Amino acid sequence: MKAALLIPAAGMGLRLGWDGPKALVDLGGAPMLAVTLSRFAAADLTPPAVVTVPPGQAADFDRAVSALSPFPCAFVEGGAERQDSVLAGLESLPDFTELVVIHDAARPLVSPDTVRAVMDAARAHGAATVALPVTDTILQADGAECLAETPDRSRLWACQTPQAFRLDIILDAHRRARREGWRVTDDATLARRAGHSVRLVRGTQENLKVTTPFDLRLALRLRREERQ
Ligand code: C5P
Repeated sequence: MKAALLIPAAGMGLRLGWDGPKALVDLGGAPMLAVTLSRFAAADLTPPAVVTVPPGQAADFDRAVSALSPFPCAFVEGGAERQDSVLAGLESLPDFTELVVIHDAARPLVSPDTVRAVMDAARAHGAATVALPVTDTILQADGAECLAETPDRSRLWACQTPQAFRLDIILDAHRRARREGWRVTDDATLARRAGHSVRLVRGTQENLKVTTPFDLRLALRLRREERQ
């Protein structure tokens, strides 16, 4: 199956306190996006990787990242929300694409084993996401910051990326979402809502999402450890 890589990277670094695209923040001497792309060097992917970028920033991304990427990248303008960016990226993929791997630029420490596992699961099952069983008890609040409900922890998983899909499944789900006004923060949820079964593939804690300054400190430390 011909597989493509789609990296949503059009978000800004506001919660990081960085006034530029989050994907270009420095992670130990290279932009975070370059580190993220390097994790896919050994995967069976057809170039170019599609990277969604903030409007007007394609040339800046090209300058900052292309020379460090293990394969060529095509920079596509993203939209207002992640979901809009992913749909723009999906619609730019060549027709021969059969499988697509979607991975947030903001998760630079994903392991090649995790990438392989989610791609294998999607080839076998049509749709798969990496996720991690939660260890905290999760509380659902009402609108006034009071406890409304405590879901059964034994069935809760925290969603991560990569997520991998047959292209027809995820394109159909995104187009339905646009028609019907569904708004979500990941793609597996759209596939499920469109009626597809989604396999859960166990991730790792290292595959954290860099959102806050604390996350960035942690990611820098983990990366330093990896290189020792
Ligand atoms: O904001 P958050 O970290 O949850 O975003 C997840 C990923 O989606 C990031 O890699 C970010 O760059 C990307 N994104 C995007 N387009 C947006 C917002 C976020 O591609 N409009």
